[in-house]
Amino acid sequence: MTGSVGYHAKHFYIRHPDFNDPELIYEVYDEMRDSGGLAYSDQPTQIPELTKYAEGHWEAVAFDACEEIVHDWDRFTSNASTVHPGVTPRRSFIMLDPPLQQRYRKVVNFYFSPRRVERAEVTARNAAAALLDDIVEQGEGDLAKVAWGLPGMVLFAEILGLPVAEVPICVQLSERALHSDTEEERDLGTQKFNEHVNGLIEAKSTEPRSDGLLDMLLTTTEIKEERLSLDEVCEHAQILVAAGLETTSGLLTSAYHYLARHPVERQRLIDDPSLIPVALEEFFRFMGSVHGLNRVATQDTEVGGCPLKRGDLIQVNFAAANRDPAMFDKADRLVLDRERNPHLAFGAGPHRCLGSNLARMEFRVGLEEVLRRIPDYRITDQTKCKFVGNAITRGFMSLPVAFTPGPRSTVASG
Ligand code: HEM
Repeated sequence: MTGSVGYHAKHFYIRHPDFNDPELIYEVYDEMRDSGGLAYSDQPTQIPELTKYAEGHWEAVAFDACEEIVHDWDRFTSNASTVHPGVTPRRSFIMLDPPLQQRYRKVVNFYFSPRRVERAEVTARNAAAALLDDIVEQGEGDLAKVAWGLPGMVLFAEILGLPVAEVPICVQLSERALHSDTEEERDLGTQKFNEHVNGLIEAKSTEPRSDGLLDMLLTTTEIKEERLSLDEVCEHAQILVAAGLETTSGLLTSAYHYLARHPVERQRLIDDPSLIPVALEEFFRFMGSVHGLNRVATQDTEVGGCPLKRGDLIQVNFAAANRDPAMFDKADRLVLDRERNPHLAFGAGPHRCLGSNLARMEFRVGLEEVLRRIPDYRITDQTKCKFVGNAITRGFMSLPVAFTPGPRSTVASG
């Protein structure tokens, strides 16, 4: 069924197939924002389990409202089970509140520090080289494969301590879990994804390496004064793998697609690569790869004049916040050299994205290498550019392109 913008603004459901149109969702956010910082929807959030506890949900679509909510973990918890005791308690820190969540952050932040990420850049360049080598001599190929491969290769090798050969398998399984058409298929996909990641952790537990984040989680006693259970480490691994594979990759595909359709702007980046660090913040703002994460009101309260009841579900929509015209001039346009850009793409407050340094580096390398090696790429068949937009992360699953063939790289893939 196809609904109008007005229909979706009243019955917002991120899983609706209409949102496989890349732009429609932003028109819906604009209309929702007209009624205030939070808009009520009688539809569920993306977490089906929560539908038992509230019929609909609030979608936070204005910048100020989103910022207020994510900073105030006392009024808005990430841990739904503290308010709705029937909800299965989750143990990964994205679903916990401070102070326990902050104890995790204290030990994991190190693995995503600027120094560690700088060290990982060589691996990112090599990964991009190897992925582009697969297509560069033919003069045609699928740019989505580059985008979906690069971040995982860096994350697995440099941060998590998982075999790089696992990246394509995990990408395939996470796509099935997040982007399948029906809830049943997604549930089954999630089960398969979790089982696979758990298998990797079980294998690792018998032979830990010295420098991977997941190896550290298996042995540390700094968080709870005793080791975490294998199940706890598995839950963390599931989130880290999914968050690291889906976000930057989806964004890269959207950026490749955008630049193919805006050759003048692409040429600006090619002529002046010093613009890339500024431009990438604008891609993070404008492309909005994470569209909503949940909070639950712990008390009767209000945000921006909107009354909320204890137990209400709120989906904090970072992508909608980033298009709020009250915060950004020309919010609905991508301005490559935007000077003031306090976007919320990585969230804010205690849960601010753990992987933001890594994501910035992977995205920059993915952009620089494509613009350097296949600068004149063009989309060969727009109808085959498959966009999946009805999930909290979105992006193109295929991007067929053609370009002037070039030589393979001389860099050894690592
Ligand atoms: C385009 C890239 C990315 C975007 C837009 C993004 C966005 C976000 C956002 C909005 C949050 C806040 C969640 C909340 O408030 O509930 C978050 C948290 C998180 N992100 Fe990212 N992310 C990206 C890349 C990554 C990468 C590469 C990783 C690596 C594993 C990662 C791991 C995480 C984790 C573990 C959290 C939870 C942090 C916590 O709860 O303390 N993200 N991310």
